[in-house]
Amino acid sequence: MWSSDPSHSFLDPRARPASSTARQSLEHRPAALRAADAGEIMAGWPDPGSPLWNPELRWLLDRSIALVRADLGGHGWLSPGPELPRERGPAWRHLYVYAYLALVDVVRGYHRDHDIADAVSWTTLADLGRNLAVDRRMHREGWPVMQSWLTLHARGGVYELGRLQYQRGDTDIGVHIFESGPMTPDAVTASLDEARAFFPRHFPDERYTAFSCGSWLLDPQLLEYLPEDSNIVRFQRRFELEPYEEPEGLDADAEVLRFVFRTLTTPLDQLPRRTVLERAIVDHLKAGRHWHWRRGRFPI
Ligand SMILES: CC(C)(COP(=O)(O)OP(=O)(O)OC[C@H]1O[C@@H](n2cnc3c(N)ncnc32)[C@H](O)[C@@H]1OP(=O)(O)O)[C@@H](O)C(=O)NCCC(=O)NCCS
Repeated sequence: MWSSDPSHSFLDPRARPASSTARQSLEHRPAALRAADAGEIMAGWPDPGSPLWNPELRWLLDRSIALVRADLGGHGWLSPGPELPRERGPAWRHLYVYAYLALVDVVRGYHRDHDIADAVSWTTLADLGRNLAVDRRMHREGWPVMQSWLTLHARGGVYELGRLQYQRGDTDIGVHIFESGPMTPDAVTASLDEARAFFPRHFPDERYTAFSCGSWLLDPQLLEYLPEDSNIVRFQRRFELEPYEEPEGLDADAEVLRFVFRTLTTPLDQLPRRTVLERAIVDHLKAGRHWHWRRGRFPI
């Protein structure tokens, strides 16, 4: 799709795919963008001469691509560049999306070098579309975290295998849970089994001893509200929790609102109370209590 020649700038007209191919690719292949997002992204494409792109934005796009690319194969969280005022237009709103799209060929090459099946590769990269759709539902409130999260996909740091995503690490494989209906214990077990086979096969030089996870889903306070047989409780039971520590720079209450209600700013009284979890989240906060972000692990 895009050239994988490292000297080939994304802003070079030759790097832009023919429009119909690009549209098809955007909607079906690398990113599985929903129609509204794909339309907006196509319309704001950084074509040479596009009035939507000023020289500073073009400079930032090229630098962001270079910065993420320089850490190809890395698996830490990375900021691709500064947070931008996204309401200023499509170039500002989607600058990092263009950077990730420009890196699709690069990361596909990395996947190929690790003998990773096309299906895993495309499924993993399709998280871009999923995140953009969530961000749209969140009226663009969700992006700052996604901006950094999506650099993992663009560097070969994360893989989606069945119901879960897995982040390469030093000794642990990080487990992430994306929104896609219930996470039944069977689906989780099948996915973990897939990961147990995937990493030794495709990353034989990396030695993993545990799966680990940091999440609001691991907060034992949820046990006060959720039934014993709920998927969240059963997921939690797999992990041995690390002692609670206030995470630096992370507001667990806000993260719970993000993942359960997909809003960070709606007043508690206006949040829906349809499910046992929704009621629990609001009642807990209204009682003046806080949710905790907990970390846990279990041996591979
Ligand atoms: C993780 C997730 C898949 C669990 O959903 P699940 O498998 O349905 O979970 P449970 O079986 O434990 O659900 C128990 C109850 O909570 C409700 N519930 C679970 N997740 C919910 C959510 N995100 N929003 C609203 N209600 C939710 C269920 O509907 C059920 O309530 P009900 O019996 O009144 O219908 C779901 O919460 C989700 O998609 N979250 C977004 C992604 C996320 O949080 N990832 C972790 C990031 S750190």
